[in-house]
Amino acid sequence: MKKIISTGKGGVGKTTTISTVATMMAREGKRVIVFDTDPSMNLAMTLGIPFLETPTITEHKAEISEELEAEGVVRIGREVIEEHSRVNRDGIRVVVMGAIPEGGGGCLCSAISLVKILLSYLDSPDCSEKYDVAFVDSQAGPEILGRGLAREFDCNVILTEPTPKSAEVSRQVVKLARDLDVRNNLLIVNKSEDDADIVRVSGMVGLTPACTVRVRYDRAVIQADWDNRLLVDAYPESGAVADIRGVMKRMEELAGM
Ligand SMILES: Nc1ncnc2c1ncn2[C@@H]1O[C@H](COP(=O)(O)OP(=O)(O)O)[C@@H](O)[C@H]1O
Ligand SMILES: [Mg+2]
Repeated sequence: MKKIISTGKGGVGKTTTISTVATMMAREGKRVIVFDTDPSMNLAMTLGIPFLETPTITEHKAEISEELEAEGVVRIGREVIEEHSRVNRDGIRVVVMGAIPEGGGGCLCSAISLVKILLSYLDSPDCSEKYDVAFVDSQAGPEILGRGLAREFDCNVILTEPTPKSAEVSRQVVKLARDLDVRNNLLIVNKSEDDADIVRVSGMVGLTPACTVRVRYDRAVIQADWDNRLLVDAYPESGAVADIRGVMKRMEELAGM
């Protein structure tokens, strides 16, 4: 199973990119599981699963921890995943980590640890349900890498806007990804209106233009959000969809799919 994470500043296009690529892959027949580890959790909704129908790991973390401790992940990992996730109409299984339930309600450390346990179970030979690829749509900023979630992942997809502040967050992300032995970094300069962004932004982030892809700024992406539809369904002929298809190809090459 290939493991791919999306990282970068808030609002740069992580969820748009992951939901679109996951959908394209699922429609090509790949078995896809996605984890939303962003406390703002809108990946499930983007993939067509209503907010109120989405169970979260944080809601049930005490019960999940107890079960895993008592039974062991090999015995009940699959059950835990099935019980705390939903499958969308493209067959993508969506696991949502969730947010801190109340003000002053502590941190997300234990929920992230559970996600790590479930991911390593999915990746192990003991796992009885096989996926070709697992995506993790992360929260804004480099923090998720600081928590070690992406250790030895096949690909870190770093989303950035063509601005210095966004590129600075991506530069920090690249540094942490190296510490975690992430195998490949793929930089996406999203909402780009200028070919020159590839060289300028990759230089600032500290990666080469060869591992950088541009996705153009396209109103269709925003319109699809307003329409509450998947970009690929609402605007299949849009420039953004064509560019994201290119992103998928690069991702597949880098991750060896
Ligand atoms: N290529 C693009 N062109 C125009 N708008 C975009 C593009 N990519 C994303 N957006 C818009 O930017 C906003 C943030 O995107 P989102 O994927 O939610 O970012 P993130 O998950 O990184 O916070 C959304 O309103 C989305 O419609
Ligand atoms: Mg997001």
